Amino acid sequence: MKMSPEARAASPNAGSAQRSSVIPRTRADIVTPALVLDLAALQGNVARMAAFFAEGPCRLRPHFKAHKTPEIARRQLAAGSCTGLTCATVGEAEIAAPFCDDLLIANEVVTAAKCARIAALARRIRVTTAVDSLAGLTELSRAAGDAGSRVGILIDLNVGQGRCGVEPGEAVVTLARQAAQSGSITLRGVMGYEGHLQPIRNRAERESRTRKAMSGLVNAASLIRDSGLPCEIVSAGGTGTYDISGRIEGITEIQAGSYALMDTDYADVGVPFEQAFWVLGTVVSRPARDRCVADCGHKSMTKDHSLPVVRGIEGAKVTSLNDEHATIALPPESTIAIGDRVELLPSHIDPTINLHDVFYVVEGEKVIDVWPIAARGYPEHRMPARLEEHS
Ligand SMILES: Cc1ncc(COP(=O)(O)O)c(C=O)c1O
Repeated sequence: MKMSPEARAASPNAGSAQRSSVIPRTRADIVTPALVLDLAALQGNVARMAAFFAEGPCRLRPHFKAHKTPEIARRQLAAGSCTGLTCATVGEAEIAAPFCDDLLIANEVVTAAKCARIAALARRIRVTTAVDSLAGLTELSRAAGDAGSRVGILIDLNVGQGRCGVEPGEAVVTLARQAAQSGSITLRGVMGYEGHLQPIRNRAERESRTRKAMSGLVNAASLIRDSGLPCEIVSAGGTGTYDISGRIEGITEIQAGSYALMDTDYADVGVPFEQAFWVLGTVVSRPARDRCVADCGHKSMTKDHSLPVVRGIEGAKVTSLNDEHATIALPPESTIAIGDRVELLPSHIDPTINLHDVFYVVEGEKVIDVWPIAARGYPEHRMPARLEEHS
């Protein structure tokens, strides 16, 4: 079996004499609970999204936070139509920087220590960060000045999600002006994430509300330009709205992430991507004819959007997740037995993948590679040298 150098380094058994007996060759050999990735489905999703963005002026900036896996991000970039990657955290950006030279941190970063890390990255690659306050802007400007780099910024606009972001109107221009006047900062544009609209099941409603939200973002960009300032990037979008926001005049890039691997929540939204990963578990108990229990609880997958769905077993339904148990209701005639495998499709991709160290990559029954989820958790806490540098 082929194993990438990164995977080898991440393997708990790397270098041990037992390695060949520990690395699985087939799905049946994978120790559970584990994340399994269907390579063909991933490639199909990545190609479909790249083809959509090859058609229009708007570009794709895949969100790394969805999977935190360099091997997947490399494939997304190689498929084309991308301006770079989106990250949610500085730690993700540090993991992505060796293979991507244009990163957007689509999130507010305000502490001196984190701004210093962004400024250090900006000496090597192009880094752009969302900003919604003078406090954040000032800290970034100071850090970039100290590092001798330039950090790009996008003014983050609240387009209705009610999370971060300045309110539409004069506040956008005020902050843009302050950015343009800040040393070591380059004003690149605006972003507005319509996260509250992604899960709307009804396509007509999703479309009309997205158009309204995006007109606010495009207006904000016009206000900035009308005041004589640059606004080259107008960034928005996710997997539920990529084909709406991504075709609106004036939106220049889309931050979709979940499309690469999908989850059952997005499957209900009706987007044209396949489920490409699942949590593999083993049945550890069949205490009743109508019930079995597997070893994959909510320490191996999230249940924040709903319970997972059982793949490929007619009539089976997860009824609860505990720390290390998935309880599954079965039709009484089910022959499922202790030791059998179950495949559970998570309802929410990002927090599920974040719980695991690696993906077992499969083609049919064969395990063809092991990919480290290198940016899982908060990687800076695994880099003591870097912490010392900034203490
Ligand atoms: C700021 C931002 N942009 C884009 C996305 C990508 O969305 P999705 O994974 O739904 O495609 C998210 C997801 O939460 C987000 O928070």
